[in-house]
Amino acid sequence: MTATDGSVAPDRGRWITLEGGDGSGKTTQAALLQEWLQQRGRTVVRTREPGGTEVGRLIREIVLHHRGEIGARAEALLFAADRAHHVATLVRPALERGDIVIQDRYLDSSVAYQGAGRVLGADEVRELSLWATERALPDLTVLLDLEPEVARRRLDAADKPFDRLEAERGEFHARVREAYLALAAAEPDRFLVLDAALPPQDLAAAVQARVEALL
Ligand code: TYD
Repeated sequence: MTATDGSVAPDRGRWITLEGGDGSGKTTQAALLQEWLQQRGRTVVRTREPGGTEVGRLIREIVLHHRGEIGARAEALLFAADRAHHVATLVRPALERGDIVIQDRYLDSSVAYQGAGRVLGADEVRELSLWATERALPDLTVLLDLEPEVARRRLDAADKPFDRLEAERGEFHARVREAYLALAAAEPDRFLVLDAALPPQDLAAAVQARVEALL
């Protein structure tokens, strides 16, 4: 976790988040990174948002699968509530033990999906998550960047029912992608942006090179 002055405390764990549109391959990269770190004898905690805790799994069910209407602000607050509980009860304790946390999605997802996708505003949504987590930011965020049309073809091929966000139209996902790229440009030290169309092993090698420098 990064302190407010941007430095990483040497005696703490490391926190790596993966971001990108649906179908960009985050889960595959999280698994490959976990395996690589464990082979080096590191203790890894693998988690995700929404749904990294028991409370989070209840929130995930509502926010992704509720059949009726959920307003954009309510949706943003549900993701933020999941995040607050997740950071307080799982992520911070793991980092304090010195573990490496590999996390599928964090606050950048809210800025991209709720801030840009739902047009709530990037700054407001980011501030909401920072308040929720007492301003916790990862040491590294890997953005798997992919054209929304390619991602959609991957999701179609996987033949799984779409959740509330995946079911959104193409313009929504185009806004999400642009927002992610803007976030990465604004914080180049925290982000590693990779072309998610590359083969998984090439992506894994690029992630490992960057993580190696963090350890
Ligand atoms: P994810 O768990 O990556 O989906 P899956 O398990 O189906 O691969 O993410 C679930 C969805 O939630 C995804 O469409 C992105 C969305 N999401 C937000 O809109 N805001 C957020 O803050 C987070 C964490 C996820």
